Amino acid sequence: MRARRTVASVLLPLALTACTAGSARVPAQQAAHAAPGAASAGDSVVPGSGNGGYDVQHYDLDLKITPQAHPAVAGTTTITATATQALSRFDLDLAGLDVTKVTVGGVSATHSRAPGKLVVTPPKPIARGGSFTVAVTYSGNPKAVDDHLLGTYGWIRTGDGVFTGDEPDGAHSWFPSNDHPMDKATFGFRVTVPRGLTAVANGELAGTTESGDAVTYTWRERDPMATYLAMVDVGRFKVRQGRTPGGVPVYVAVDSSIDQAGLDSLYDNTVKVTDAWAKLFGPYPFTSTGGVVDDAPVRFALETQTRPEYIAGMAALPTVVAHELSHQWFGDSVSVTRWGDMWLNEGFATYAEWMWGERENPADTVQSQFDSRYSQTRSPDLWNIPPAAPGRTALFGRSVYDRGAMALHALRKKVGDQRFFAILRAWTAEHRHGNATTAQFTALAQRVSGMDLRHLFQVWLYDRGRPVNW
Ligand code: TRP
Ligand code: ZN
Repeated sequence: MRARRTVASVLLPLALTACTAGSARVPAQQAAHAAPGAASAGDSVVPGSGNGGYDVQHYDLDLKITPQAHPAVAGTTTITATATQALSRFDLDLAGLDVTKVTVGGVSATHSRAPGKLVVTPPKPIARGGSFTVAVTYSGNPKAVDDHLLGTYGWIRTGDGVFTGDEPDGAHSWFPSNDHPMDKATFGFRVTVPRGLTAVANGELAGTTESGDAVTYTWRERDPMATYLAMVDVGRFKVRQGRTPGGVPVYVAVDSSIDQAGLDSLYDNTVKVTDAWAKLFGPYPFTSTGGVVDDAPVRFALETQTRPEYIAGMAALPTVVAHELSHQWFGDSVSVTRWGDMWLNEGFATYAEWMWGERENPADTVQSQFDSRYSQTRSPDLWNIPPAAPGRTALFGRSVYDRGAMALHALRKKVGDQRFFAILRAWTAEHRHGNATTAQFTALAQRVSGMDLRHLFQVWLYDRGRPVNW
């Protein structure tokens, strides 16, 4: 889903004869040759992932998940999209899994596999601007991605269920998608699990229905969401619901091995942080907040939209909750256009973490966080890698997280608190539910502050080496 669309939603079946160049009977526009959509978004950090030729508006996941059995997942994902070119065929990202049926507009479509892809050839070409639905029926045991640079991500088994932590491109390990944050869409989830297990996803729970020894959970995310932020977490959970004093509905769930105090501390931290960040960063961007704590064998939390995922121990740490919930503004609502701009997510979330630390313990200042890192003069992971160009190797490295946060602190010291927070609020307002780039951030900072910040951004974001004056 792109922020501005003016395209009419109609399916215009394009007769193959329209491709006959110079045919007098077809209007010029329709005569354009339908061509395959690009097989990659062209993002060097995740080569291969993402596709061109269409723009997804909505994903509807109707999945039966039996974590301990084979197949672990079976069902249909239905995608509603708009063609951005005349399409003879198009690719979806999908790793492994057995595809048994693909329809386009309800009509059976030809499909084949390429590495990480499902190639779909609709019965008739799709006209540019045409809206279409593609339904993919599949089953299998999704496999986590094991990457020597990015770690393990995607579909991750837990003791009693499964956890999906998909950053940057693990979503297509369990559902066919245009797996790049540039193409955000709304989501519906209908997840059927064995009785006794709970399925938690993004947005709001719209209903629970029981049938025999299975339970179906229906969740809806009504705001645009990047694929890596989509989450289904299945397990035996304790659940607590409510509303923040600021009026945001809350849904938190923790693995049953975690005690009531753990559930309550996640709930309290989530409520406090959600309302505090809304005061500082601008209105909360989504229709609910929350979190899930599970026993996944990963080492990180993830800012899944409306409902971050944590591992035990982390959810009890208010600074981690402060980090993940700050991503709801920085990363989830305002999303990267390309992964190389990751500091727009992690630099901002690290800075939020430092600010929460200072609120909790006034002696633990943001300035001291900056100073302790600035004094590490011989730290190549901080100084040899520019935060705005980490490549795949340093995507989750200290330059993106810590030097990114230091860049924001340098900006704050230069422009003053009032202008700094005005910049952050303008950023979340102007790119709400959209995508943005580093260049757009630096331009916005200059405009809102009315100051020349080119040198500061050059040395902090783009240059190698430890900045000495700015
Ligand atoms: N974005 C996460 C954070 O807020 C870290 C992370 C990177 C992650 N890759 C992941 C989490 C894969 C889960 C899965 O710091
Ligand atoms: Zn983060």
